[in-house]
Amino acid sequence: MLFTEEQIKSRVKQLGKQLAREYAGKPLVVLGVLNGGAIFCADLVRAMDIPLGLAFVRASSYGDGTVSRGEADIFLEQGFSARGRHVLIAEDIADTGKTLAALKERLLSCGALSVKVCCMLNKPSRRQVAVRVDHVGFDIPDEFVVGYGLDYAGRFRNLPYIGVLSREAYGG
Ligand code: IMP
Ligand code: MG
Repeated sequence: MLFTEEQIKSRVKQLGKQLAREYAGKPLVVLGVLNGGAIFCADLVRAMDIPLGLAFVRASSYGDGTVSRGEADIFLEQGFSARGRHVLIAEDIADTGKTLAALKERLLSCGALSVKVCCMLNKPSRRQVAVRVDHVGFDIPDEFVVGYGLDYAGRFRNLPYIGVLSREAYGG
């Protein structure tokens, strides 16, 4: 166990309040990153007491394992437009930073007024691409974690807490 359900809830509330102040009066769309970021995103927008749009993007740099494949695939919703809006990316975790860097570049090229990133978790020691993560729930060490949206080979996303996957479980 790394973070309990209660710790997560209270941190997400704080982030939501802070973000609501930051974006008050501005055209905002919160963009959840599927699949992992969906759960965090759903909680985050409900902690933000301001008008906002909600959309999702599919992005993945991971296969089934615990090591990044390197390149990120990005599929925006059909009809999604970032033009003239501030975009806040809601993601489960910033690891190598490749997914977020690719996503930010894509959104800025689509005419977003600004693109900021809010991640539930951040593994700063793993960064390979310099990418600014504007808001972070918790910084964590280099461990493979599951729960609260994060999976290992498609499992554990629905855990209400965040735990470290034991190395025996994946032979790492
Ligand atoms: P990046 O492009 O390497 O930063 O990869 C970010 C993505 O990798 C996240 O959206 C997660 O889906 C996945 N990921 C990175 N670290 C972990 C982890 O510890 N557990 C589960 N998924 C992870
Ligand atoms: Mg992900």
